Amino acid sequence: MIILGIETSCDETAAAVLSDRGETAAERILANLVLSQDEAHRPYGGIVPEIAARAHLDHLDRLIGQAMEQAGIDFAALDGVAVTGGPGLIGGVMVGVMTAKAIALAHALPFLAVNHLEGHALTVRLTENLPFPYLLLLVSGGHCQLLCVEGVGAYRRLGTTLDDAIGEAFDKTAKMLGLGYPGGPAVERAALGGNAQRFDLPRPMKGRPNCHFSFSGLKTAVRQVIARALGEAPTPTDTADLCAAFQAAVGDVLVDRCANGLAQMRALGLSETALVVAGGVAANVALGARLAGWAEEENLLLAVPPPALCTDNGAMIAWAGIERLGLGLTDGLDFAPRPRWPLDADAPPAIGAGVKA
Ligand code: KG4
Ligand code: ZN
Repeated sequence: MIILGIETSCDETAAAVLSDRGETAAERILANLVLSQDEAHRPYGGIVPEIAARAHLDHLDRLIGQAMEQAGIDFAALDGVAVTGGPGLIGGVMVGVMTAKAIALAHALPFLAVNHLEGHALTVRLTENLPFPYLLLLVSGGHCQLLCVEGVGAYRRLGTTLDDAIGEAFDKTAKMLGLGYPGGPAVERAALGGNAQRFDLPRPMKGRPNCHFSFSGLKTAVRQVIARALGEAPTPTDTADLCAAFQAAVGDVLVDRCANGLAQMRALGLSETALVVAGGVAANVALGARLAGWAEEENLLLAVPPPALCTDNGAMIAWAGIERLGLGLTDGLDFAPRPRWPLDADAPPAIGAGVKA
């Protein structure tokens, strides 16, 4: 089975061609091209949806052509076309979905609308053949959730963020410190060698019995440190110390929430095969090390895809397409792009979970 995967839900234009032959990601990925729009959004310090949609429109066709060329096949050799159908910035999602539908129609191929979060959730099966069920910490620019992944299409949400997404907290911290965009990698770089003990930052939700997250209080605390202690022009040492303190606080929160998630999963009678960390923030090496230390204490396998497969890419969408097509889960060409699309539609709302640290 060979599938074309298209991703345009945020600020990366991506196309990949994957085969289900082989045991490793290297064998399965025939092409995986990602065109970052960072430069186009940098002057604005964040993603501008209209600019993103236009950039996808300008580059997607050529990128798909290059991916097919690199894979060494033509459209007739495909078994299906998978595309991110949501959630995301709707203009971009529409560009991807319309393109995928056109290819599917022109070549009489099955069409698969993939939930972007499902792409992140299943990546570890592409890279490590991990069996279900596993505990998934999904940490990206738009989301922060703990999920129990029980099968393809079977996702139980244990917790979510009550306010900001974790990647947003990284991006805003970077912006406040003038580190530029995208913020996550910039904060991680700046934190290297910093003293995490110098500033005392809150650990929102830590110790609460549920699995929810909150990051707005942490963001406010960072702003207050900058205003009260650092002033207009923080020194490189100030910036390093504050970024290190921020990452340490986030790490403590993630470990505490994962511990509750693991307990909840076991209480459901499910024995986990691993803790999987996915989404753009999973590319953070310091957080990965913090989670790895905890997982080792718990005797728990930790699985984190390589950084290039953590941030948005087409391979994860093509892989989810392979898994779905294998189960006969195709979509009609009347599929409408979805700005919102929860992985677990039955999850109770997080309202009332309490946001105070
Ligand atoms: O999954 P992703 O590529 O796009 C979304 O679906 O949101 O995640 C992007 C987010 C951004 O907020 C970015 O700052 C963050 O992931 N990110 C990181 C790192 N690399 C990307 N955050 C922390 N450390 C990193 N190394
Ligand atoms: Zn993503």
